[in-house]
Amino acid sequence: MGLLNWSEQYSVGLLSVDSEHKKLFDMVNEMHEAMRTGQGNAVLEKILGRLVTYTRSHFAAEERLMQTHGYPGLAEHKKAHDALTAQVIELQRKLKGGKTCLSIEVMLFLRNWLTTHILGTDMKYAPFLKSKGAA
Ligand code: FEO
Repeated sequence: MGLLNWSEQYSVGLLSVDSEHKKLFDMVNEMHEAMRTGQGNAVLEKILGRLVTYTRSHFAAEERLMQTHGYPGLAEHKKAHDALTAQVIELQRKLKGGKTCLSIEVMLFLRNWLTTHILGTDMKYAPFLKSKGAA
């Protein structure tokens, strides 16, 4: 069992998005495992770096999907993405600067950061995009 376990409640019903979300879950779990097993900062920073990169690419892909299908909530959703990106970059900056260490609080923050967005914000576009034929 990882910190985050995928279940149907997280599915937005679109294969490409679900598969990207699963990968984000895996990355948070990988970080948690590295923290739990006492890996050094260099390893943790590397994993967080990959998480930041993948998050940006996922958000961009999701925004393209919303744009393609004319989703009316795109601007609001993009704002949420920008805020989440800023949060994770700030975390990365603090870790690099030695201002914080990877603690269970930080991991819980990342878990909530991801699940709250999927359950609260991503779920809002699901019925709209599905009605437009997105899969
Ligand atoms: Fe799946 Fe809006 O991020």
